[in-house]
This record gives sequence, C-alpha cells and structure tokens, in this order.
Amino acid sequence: MKFQELKKNIFYCGLNDAEREVFDELIPLEHGTSYNSYLIKGSEKVAIVDTMYPPKTEEYLKNLDANGVDKVDYIIANHGEQDHSGSIPALLKKYPEAVVVTNAKVKDNIKEMLLVDESRVQVINNNDELSLGDKTLKFIIAPGVHWPDTMFTYVVEDNAIFTCDFLGAHYTFEDAFAVESKELEHSAKRYYAEIMMPFRTMCKKYTQLIKDMKPELIMPSHGPVYKNTDFILDLYADWSADEGKNLAVLPYVSMYGSTEEMIDYIIKGLNAKGIDTVKFDIVRGDLGDLAMALVDATTIVLGCSMVLAGPHPAAFNIAYLAGALRPKAKIAAMVGSYGWGGNLFSKLGEQLSALKLDLIEPLLVKGKAKEEDYKKLDDIIEQIYTKHKALNLV
Ligand code: FEO
Repeated sequence: MKFQELKKNIFYCGLNDAEREVFDELIPLEHGTSYNSYLIKGSEKVAIVDTMYPPKTEEYLKNLDANGVDKVDYIIANHGEQDHSGSIPALLKKYPEAVVVTNAKVKDNIKEMLLVDESRVQVINNNDELSLGDKTLKFIIAPGVHWPDTMFTYVVEDNAIFTCDFLGAHYTFEDAFAVESKELEHSAKRYYAEIMMPFRTMCKKYTQLIKDMKPELIMPSHGPVYKNTDFILDLYADWSADEGKNLAVLPYVSMYGSTEEMIDYIIKGLNAKGIDTVKFDIVRGDLGDLAMALVDATTIVLGCSMVLAGPHPAAFNIAYLAGALRPKAKIAAMVGSYGWGGNLFSKLGEQLSALKLDLIEPLLVKGKAKEEDYKKLDDIIEQIYTKHKALNLV
C-alpha cells in the first residue's frame, strides 16, 4: 500500500481493521476501526507519529519497507495505550538509531507495558520543540483526553496537529481525508460517547484550545483526517457543552412486562409535554446506542425488575456504566416492579451517585401498576417537565 501524502512530506501510514467488532471488549463497533500512524520526512530527520496495534505489526512493518522507509530517527508516542504504542518495540528493533520521543507518563507506561528500554526514550515537556530540519514538532501535553499520559504533536510549519485519540472515530477508509457525512458524524459521536464522555470537561477545554489554533489539518489516531477542522471541532463543542438537550433516556429491563408498561407510560407523558425520549432495552440493546443517547440527555429514567431481592443485574450494570461514563444528565427517576420483595433502588442509586443527579422519588410497585401508581407516574412526568422547563429546554 502506497502511503498517502496529507501535506508535503507528511504521510498516512496506518491501517484499517474492518473486522474488529468490539473495542475494549465492551461496546460493539459498527464500522471497524483504523489505527493511524503518520510518517514525517523532515529535511534532516524522519519521524513516525504513533505506531500500531500489536496484531497488525507485521503488516505495518511490511508497508514501511514497501514505501522505502529505511531510516527513522524519532518515534513520537502521543499515548501509551497499546493500540498506538504496541509496535514501538518492533520499530526500535528495525530502526536501531531511532529514539522514542514522549512525555514522562507515556515513558513509564511503555516501560511497564511493552518493556521498552528507557535508554531509547527521550522525555519532553509541555511546549518543547523538536526540529526535523524544515519541520518543527511542538508537543502539547493534554492529560485526560483520554488517559493521563495523552499529548498532542503540532507541526509548526504546516499548522497541522496530531491529536491522538482525541477527535477520533472508529471508522475505516480508503482515502484518509474525511468525507463529511451523517455516517461519519454518527461514528464520531459513538466514539466520543464511549471514550471521551467521561472526560467531558477536558474535552471542552482542548476543543477550544485547538479551535483557537485554527489548524489546517487534524490527524487523530482513529478515523479519518480532517481538512475542514470545524466539522469535528463543532461536533465536540456541542457534545462536551454543559447543557443537555430536551431529551430523556429510558433504559429498562422488564421480566414480565410491568416495568416496560410504566416506562411506556412515562414516554407517552413526556412526549405529550414536548420532551424527546429514547427507550432502551437493556438486555437486547446495543450499549453504543445508549452511550450516544447519554451524550445529549438531561434526564435518565431507569426501569428495573426485581431479581432475588435486588435489582436485575443487567440494570445494575447499566447504572454502573452510566456512572462511569459521566454523562451531563442532571435529573433521574427510577421505576420498578417486584414479585415477592427486596430492595431495588438503593444499589442502583449508589451506582449513579457520582453523577450527583437530582433524583425524583422512585416508584416501586408489586406486579402491575394500579390506578394510584399511575397517579405517581403522572407526578414523575410532571416533575421531569417542570425541571426541563426550569432549564429552558421546553
Ligand atoms: Fe486508541 Fe487510548 O487508545
């Protein structure tokens, strides 16, 4: 495969992984992913920015040979996670003169995870520069998008930035330049939801920082390269904003249909009051769809059946995941149904407690909701509406 030139002497040398179905063994991928690596040929020195996922190393090295890359001076490691750092040991072996240039946290990670010899690592600090001759690399340490070790690399003369996982998408392509589409936007949002949402405030900060730089090219470590940099930056500005949308997401698990009936009743009531809803079947649904809905939701309504005197484990997992993803939601309600007893809500509430949600009094019914329960559901609907109104959402 001939490397694609993105700017003069900056080449794409990454690989697609169209067959990969799940990332982090957690959330399904809809379009596989790409592991992006970049080659920069300066007038004096050659650098590679980020490397390759370990199972793809052989193919990656073959491509470097096929493109005549017989000398590499610097391997820039923007992040220590192995989908990008995994081929560093093989590159250090292949190019004996090469050194890894990175920050202290990545150095520590690749030493521990990949057994990289620290004598082959050159540590840089924030705003340090490295000359390749006619190109200057400037390093921007950007912890929290998404690991503590993350940094960006900026090519000063080209006004182009490598943003590592930040601004990426799980997406494959033939031409590395982004073709703006709803499908790409969907993939980028799904990726944001799964990987970046827990670090929303840092995403907001670095979106603005990069916007202010007005780069001509954004080159992330997954998904396509952006020439129209506002496409991805404006999406990130929207997703990472503090304010949610006029949306309630309702994940539920219902063993005999009673909980689902209550969820459907709430959905009907909220829709009648102008509030958008996303109903999510916890057992059969795709976690990525739920994560995406949580990017925008202001309200979470969790529906759960009782199993063995506690919450259904699938709902417990979802409450844990929602707590870990740290969405911007501000309001929560819980409804559930039981057969013979137990405590449904305290364990679910614990999982969500990190979100500091404004929790409406939960409703637990034995079996099916009765007339008095429907009055309580009406009250839940009214409370959600009032709170959305107070936030100027409806
Ligand atoms: Fe794509 Fe954090 O690795």
